[in-house]
Amino acid sequence: MEIIREVALLRRRVEEEKQCGRSVGLVPTMGALHAGHVSLIDRARKENDIVVVSVFVNPTQFNNPEDLRTYPRTEEADCEKMTSAGVNIAFIPSVEEVYPEPDTRVFDLGPVTEVMEGPMRPGHFNGVAQIVSKLFDMVLPHRAYFGEKDFQQIAVIRRMVELEGFDIDIIDCPIMREDDGLAMSSRNVRLTPSQREIAPTIHKALVASLDFAKSHSVKETMQSVINEINAQPEMEVEYYEIVDSLTMQPISDWAECNCPVGCITVYCGEVRLIDNIKYIK
Ligand code: PAF
Repeated sequence: MEIIREVALLRRRVEEEKQCGRSVGLVPTMGALHAGHVSLIDRARKENDIVVVSVFVNPTQFNNPEDLRTYPRTEEADCEKMTSAGVNIAFIPSVEEVYPEPDTRVFDLGPVTEVMEGPMRPGHFNGVAQIVSKLFDMVLPHRAYFGEKDFQQIAVIRRMVELEGFDIDIIDCPIMREDDGLAMSSRNVRLTPSQREIAPTIHKALVASLDFAKSHSVKETMQSVINEINAQPEMEVEYYEIVDSLTMQPISDWAECNCPVGCITVYCGEVRLIDNIKYIK
């Protein structure tokens, strides 16, 4: 595996591969890689000749400086995982390399950012659009891979791709879970043992709500999930919204869309966990 830290070299190497007729898949990450990331890499390997993984903790998408400071950084372990997963190029730049000047671009991301993570984390999605558009511009991959755990993020990225006119297929990949159902996340390592024990309640409550939803309204279903999770010590739901999976707009009646998805954010102690579930109607 090649490790590249400079943008100019990355551009050159990817261009050489494309000149040889090879297809390129990009997996953007913030490092602290786990089996969820490896599943994205595996999929990218199946569908492309060359896989590029970026490892960059992007400061512009953190609205909380403490979250940025404490975000896990595990470059050595990440390189081992990427090597054994068969990554061809790991792009691991410094902040100065990616942002030689402050990025002042403001993206018109529209209604998909007006709900859930949008108001909760002001500036977050604009920062995601900034970094992902930069990475897309550097690599110009044929395909880019994102995990469905960050469900709203994928809608934001699709909107950014539309705005910028990138000819890149956005591939969304299913959430990977621990054996007890907890969605894999780089933040899980920050849970205390007792928090780790109760954290799977999030997925359990979401799964239980699939059945509950068959005979209850959207509002009742949301409330049952919130009540079940909040009943746990140290757990507090920040929001639970059931939205149209295409527009991200909250629904109030099941008949409003074909594919509703429930998106949740829960504080487990200090750690902010997110998850989601699709309601098949
Ligand atoms: O999902 C993430 O890890 C990040 O938001 C991403 C897409 C790599 C951009 O920094």
